[in-house]
Amino acid sequence: MTATARTPIVAGNWKMNLDHAAGVALAAAVAGRRSEAAGVDLVLCPPAVYIVPVAGAVAEAGGDVAIGGQNASDKEKGAFTGEVAPPMLLDVGCRYVILGHSERRTLFGETDASVNAKAKAALAAGLLPIVCVGETLEEREAGRTEAVVTEQVNGSLAGLDAAALEKTVVAYEPVWAIGTGKVATPEQAQEVHALIRGLLAGLASAETAAKVRIQYGGSVKPDNAAQLAACPDIDGALVGGASLKADDFLAIAKAFASGTA
Ligand code: PGA
Repeated sequence: MTATARTPIVAGNWKMNLDHAAGVALAAAVAGRRSEAAGVDLVLCPPAVYIVPVAGAVAEAGGDVAIGGQNASDKEKGAFTGEVAPPMLLDVGCRYVILGHSERRTLFGETDASVNAKAKAALAAGLLPIVCVGETLEEREAGRTEAVVTEQVNGSLAGLDAAALEKTVVAYEPVWAIGTGKVATPEQAQEVHALIRGLLAGLASAETAAKVRIQYGGSVKPDNAAQLAACPDIDGALVGGASLKADDFLAIAKAFASGTA
C-alpha cells in the first residue's frame, strides 16, 4: 500500500500560546478556508481551556476541522487535581489527543509506560491518540536514533491490538528539530518513518502498519512541507510554531494535499 491510500493528517499544536480571542480568530480563519486543503484531515489542538470556544468557532465557520487535546490523564475521572480525563475531551468536542509530546516527556516526566496507559485510556474513551516519539540530538549523534525510536514505539504502543493501532496516529518528532528551525532532511525523516512502519508491522501486521498514519513534526514550515510530503511514509505533519498563523498552517496542509495527489 502506498501513501496515497492514507488520508494525510496535519495537526496544529498550539502549545501554551494565544488567548481566547486570538484562538477563536485563528480557528475561524482555518475552518473558513478549509477547502484550500481538501483531502487532508485537519486538527487544531488548542490549550484545554480554549477547546470549547475553538470548537464553537469551527462549527460556526462550517469547517470540517477536528479538535484535539494536547494531553490527557490515563484516568477516567476522580481525585486528580489539575488533570483532564479523556471522556471530558470527547465530551467537549475533541476527536484527537496528542500524547507523549517531547515537552511532556522531558519537562513533565512522562515515560513510555505512562504514554502507553494514556493511549489505552484515550482509545477506551473513543479518542484517537497522536502518539509522539523522537530522539534527542545527543542520541542521534551517538547513533542511537533507531534504538531510541524502537523503544519508544514498542513501549508507548504496547498491548494495542490491530484495531487500536489503526485508530492511532504516530508523530515522529526529532527533539532537536522542535522549535529550533532545524528540520530533519526528507531522507532522515523518511528513514525513521519507514522504521516506525516496520515496528508497527511487528506489533500487528504489515496490513495494519500500512493503514497507520505517521506524521513528521519539528520545524515544519510552508517552505519545507512539500519535500516532506513527497516522502512515501510521511502522512502528514504535527506543526507547532507555524500552526499559529492560518496562512502558514493552511499552506503546509496544502502541501500534503498535493503531495498525495
Ligand atoms: P515546531 O513544533 O513546529 O514549532 O517545531 C512541533 C511540535 O512540537 O509539535
